[in-house]
Amino acid sequence: MSDQTQRTFIAVKPDGVQRGLISQILARFENRGYKLVGIKMIVPTEALLREHYAEHVDRPFFPKLLAHMTSGPVAAMVWEGSDVVAQGRTVLGATNPSNALPGTIRGDFGIDMGRNVCHGSDSVASAEREINLWFKKEELADWTLSQHKWIY
Ligand code: PPS
Repeated sequence: MSDQTQRTFIAVKPDGVQRGLISQILARFENRGYKLVGIKMIVPTEALLREHYAEHVDRPFFPKLLAHMTSGPVAAMVWEGSDVVAQGRTVLGATNPSNALPGTIRGDFGIDMGRNVCHGSDSVASAEREINLWFKKEELADWTLSQHKWIY
């Protein structure tokens, strides 16, 4: 039996927000049958991003990534459903838009590695860590999706 309570952290990056792509990203996850349990607009601080991207802070691209991610609001979301971490990454497409297939968010809207529209957790452990970093427990809604029985 799949874990229907699995959660992932998805963020629409400042380029995605400025280009008006939030609704397209929401729609793809909703259409897939996933449940939105948290959403907010936030301009992330450097401290938050240093924790979020902890494994990348020493990489040469990190200053550019930090400058981009602090340049404006991010739409931070938590989605719930069966296999949502892996499926969410599939919906987003390859990290580098040059390698992302048409039909994925980055394949349809991304061009450059720096401005790749969105972020998605890469594992269940990362998802748990990122959700706890970006959201307080009381910001996540515990609700029943009425179409649930038609999905599972
Ligand atoms: S790696 O090499 O596989 O560990 O890194 P990767 O998973 O591809 O990327 C980690 C995050 O860094 C972002 N990134 C960049 N941002 C700006 N410029 C450049 N050159 C660059 N290279 C990688 C990449 O988009 C990943 O962030 P998220 O938020 O997960 O997309």
